[in-house]
Amino acid sequence: MTTWPALGRRTFLLCAGAIGVVLALSVVAALVWEDAAWLLGALLLVSTGVSVVLAKSGHNALQLMRESLPTPVQAPAPTQVVPPTGLSYAPGEPLDMLRRDIQRDVSALLSLHALLPVTGSMPAPGGWAATPETLLVLVSRILAAPRIDTVVECGSGTSTAWIALAIKKRGEGRLISLEHDQNYADSTRLKLEELGLDGWVEIRVHDLVLQPFEARSRLWFPSEALADIGPVSLLFVDGPPAHLGAEIRYPALPLLTDRLTPDAWVILDDIDRAEEQSILARWVADGTGAAPFQVRFQTDRAAVLERAR
Ligand SMILES: C[S@@+](CC[C@H](N)C(=O)[O-])C[C@H]1O[C@@H](n2cnc3c(N)ncnc32)[C@H](O)[C@@H]1O
Repeated sequence: MTTWPALGRRTFLLCAGAIGVVLALSVVAALVWEDAAWLLGALLLVSTGVSVVLAKSGHNALQLMRESLPTPVQAPAPTQVVPPTGLSYAPGEPLDMLRRDIQRDVSALLSLHALLPVTGSMPAPGGWAATPETLLVLVSRILAAPRIDTVVECGSGTSTAWIALAIKKRGEGRLISLEHDQNYADSTRLKLEELGLDGWVEIRVHDLVLQPFEARSRLWFPSEALADIGPVSLLFVDGPPAHLGAEIRYPALPLLTDRLTPDAWVILDDIDRAEEQSILARWVADGTGAAPFQVRFQTDRAAVLERAR
């Protein structure tokens, strides 16, 4: 489309000249042919031309003004946050799962330290040791159970310190920790002394021995390790380590079931492994003692059992 300029000085003079010429010619024609229609025709032509020029010029002036206005600023398109590694935090992706684990651990550790103020440095949780969530369940049960007699633990370490701390705060009960490895027993004892908790714990160190158990031979702590234990309010099974034998932790519940109080909790760690899943299934199916055991709930890595009611 042709765009006319806004009515400038030059255009105005040209238009005015053209109007003047048309009018002069119409006057001459009217005089020569003695007919005023020439004059009327010229006036009609001139007014039409002037109207068109003014209308177009006004339109163009508005357009020029509009074009001179600043262009509106466009909001930038939202960009997705991509970590520098290129890995994704999308739900279910490895980074997302890791972040959830860390959040669970931090939350449980904060709760543990709120429940039991610690003056020294506690041994690290996780890895070989119980996870913060499992430690929190152990500690909470000791603090909240109607009564705490003996707590038995299979496998010493970080859990020993937290259980002892909870028993000390409660002011009743004691912990018997069964350990087959002298080195781990020694380092746990040192930690307990450093934290002023050694008076609440007895670590019993015994080599595992092959003994007849349910029509076969199994490695387990010798009978004297369990001789004078009872009644047991809480049993935590986190040892012996799996590499020492298939389903090596299985005897813990059958051998201690008659010492457990009616409302005792039994906690089996490492149920993320097939072997512990199998032990758990057998414990539930065995129906050891007067009442069978059932899973009450699970932590991130442990199952909590109690007698079926
Ligand atoms: C799973 S750990 C017991 C951990 C303990 N209940 C805790 O929460 O720290 C089972 C046994 O493994 C052995 N153990 C502990 N820490 C270990 C490590 N870092 N490497 C190899 N064996 C370890 C000890 O003999 C322990 O009794």
